[in-house]
Amino acid sequence: MTRDNRTFLQGRTALVTGGGRRIGRTLVSALARAGATVVVHHFHSRDDAQATANGVEVLGGRAFLVDGDLADARTAAALCDRARQCCGAPLDILVNNAAIFAPGDARTVSAADWDAHQSVNLRAPFLLAQGFAAQLAGDGPADIINLNDGRGLRPGADHFAYTVSKAGLHGLTKSLALALAPRVRVNELALGAVLPPEGGPGGPGGPGGYVRTPREALPLRRFPTPEDVAEAMLYLLAAPAVTGQTICLDGGQHLDPFA
Ligand SMILES: NC(=O)c1ccc[n+]([C@@H]2O[C@H](COP(=O)([O-])OP(=O)(O)OC[C@H]3O[C@@H](n4cnc5c(N)ncnc54)[C@H](OP(=O)(O)O)[C@@H]3O)[C@@H](O)[C@H]2O)c1
Repeated sequence: MTRDNRTFLQGRTALVTGGGRRIGRTLVSALARAGATVVVHHFHSRDDAQATANGVEVLGGRAFLVDGDLADARTAAALCDRARQCCGAPLDILVNNAAIFAPGDARTVSAADWDAHQSVNLRAPFLLAQGFAAQLAGDGPADIINLNDGRGLRPGADHFAYTVSKAGLHGLTKSLALALAPRVRVNELALGAVLPPEGGPGGPGGPGGYVRTPREALPLRRFPTPEDVAEAMLYLLAAPAVTGQTICLDGGQHLDPFA
């Protein structure tokens, strides 16, 4: 298994949650280009997920769709098995990409907002990991990649429920890496600002509450692109000695306590 071979994921089967749009779509395409069969999970974005799957088939790959609300514990717990059934092969890559991201202040965040972030951003990746481990077959490689946020690695007062859910995901990544070793490797990508939330204020470097740090204040003076995220995911999938690891894709922001 080497990245020099552009089809190094041939014979492998991946599930990408929230894979129909935005960063998830780029991850699906990258997995397919590397040879994996991909199950594209969606919730509301069925048409986008179908377009993503069509794009995989144009590349000569195979893609399937599976839907479900990951705020529902039973849906999250059953999703890997449903994905396995719809593509007819056990999964051996799980990409926990789906998330919600809402602003909220610690003094006013509601219990409902708290629960929504915890259930989609933290409980679902855990239940998906359980389901993934339960349906594995054979003794080939098996990988979980969690999409985290730099906010999850250090305290922050904005987007309070989101930040705490992603801090939990950071802990989950490390605990699962130990708990599921040696069978499954579990790693995470901690992103800076890649794409602005839809309907929200500001883009990377723009006004509004989404970007904490302008581009010019980042050590590398650049935000990550979805393609950067996909490239890091592929690196992790080709790194058999790496588990419990976090790759920060943030233009160096995590190095600067004032950024
Ligand atoms: N965008 C950034 O700049 C950025 C920065 C840091 C970290 N991240 C992380 O990177 C990942 C991808 O980011 P993104 O901005 O591309 O994500 P996004 O567009 O905010 O969300 C991705 C998908 O999550 C799915 N989703 C949300 N709630 C769901 C639910 N209850 N059940 C099932 N699916 C649900 C949605 O699927 P449907 O559309 O099908 O409903 C949505 O398309 C996320 O984990 C995010 O936290 C992103």
